[in-house]
Amino acid sequence: ERARHAITSSSHAFDGLMGGAGMRTGRVTEICGPPGMGKTQFGMQFCVNVQIPSAAGGVDGEAVFIDTEGSFIVDRVVEIASATREELHSHQIQEVPTIETMLSRIHFFRVHSHVEQVALINQLDEFLASHPKIKLIVIDSIAFHFRQKFADMGQRTRLLNGMAQRLRALAENRDVAVVMTNQMTTRIRRVGAGLGDGDSATLVPALGDSWGHACTNRVILSWQDDARQASLVKSPNLPEATVLYAITADGVRD
Ligand code: GTP
Repeated sequence: ERARHAITSSSHAFDGLMGGAGMRTGRVTEICGPPGMGKTQFGMQFCVNVQIPSAAGGVDGEAVFIDTEGSFIVDRVVEIASATREELHSHQIQEVPTIETMLSRIHFFRVHSHVEQVALINQLDEFLASHPKIKLIVIDSIAFHFRQKFADMGQRTRLLNGMAQRLRALAENRDVAVVMTNQMTTRIRRVGAGLGDGDSATLVPALGDSWGHACTNRVILSWQDDARQASLVKSPNLPEATVLYAITADGVRD
């Protein structure tokens, strides 16, 4: 395997969960969790952190952010970017990009349907070829436009599998980190016919089991009493583990 880069999350614990340095290029990671856990916050944080200069151990790169739900908030990115810039300055790092430059290095796409989403992902390889500084693709969320009932569920599966394959190829061939968020859905296990005693409901990532096989790394965010926790539940090379993280005014932190 050739040398990969890593993008810090700004949480040492979360970076540790992902193998030490954060999100690796060449890999596809899915971050799942119920509303409000901070999936979009992680996405925005990585878009800022991918730009950390190499003098500070960063990747000095650019990002693609694909927004399917309209949850990207520029003011929040400015907050996160300002905090990151202050930290870099306090470590005497030279050539810290301005907020304006940082925003211009986040290539933002809004997709309004699963058709737009698939079309955009199909065009990404070409886009990356003409933007070699891009080291990160965030898709927030992968599931939103695929959760409605499809008339043809077979077609839905084919589209999802095709998307997963493309994202893996982009990660590997273009040496980018792919980070996608996913919602949780309730799975009811029925005991006997109909709803009744003994039935159990569990929260599982949306899009079903075949999608679950498609991603390389899977992280699930959840509450542990009043603390936020992230669990690595699937990875080809990293051990399953759970760590705590926080969302502060400055962004993702320990
Ligand atoms: P959905 O998009 O609803 O599925 O949720 P999500 O998991 O993407 O959550 P999102 O990233 O939108 O995170 C929202 C959470 O981040 C909120 O519950 C807040 O606790 C936290 N948050 C957002 N902005 C701030 C902030 O400025 N300060 C602090 N302390 N927390 C914030």
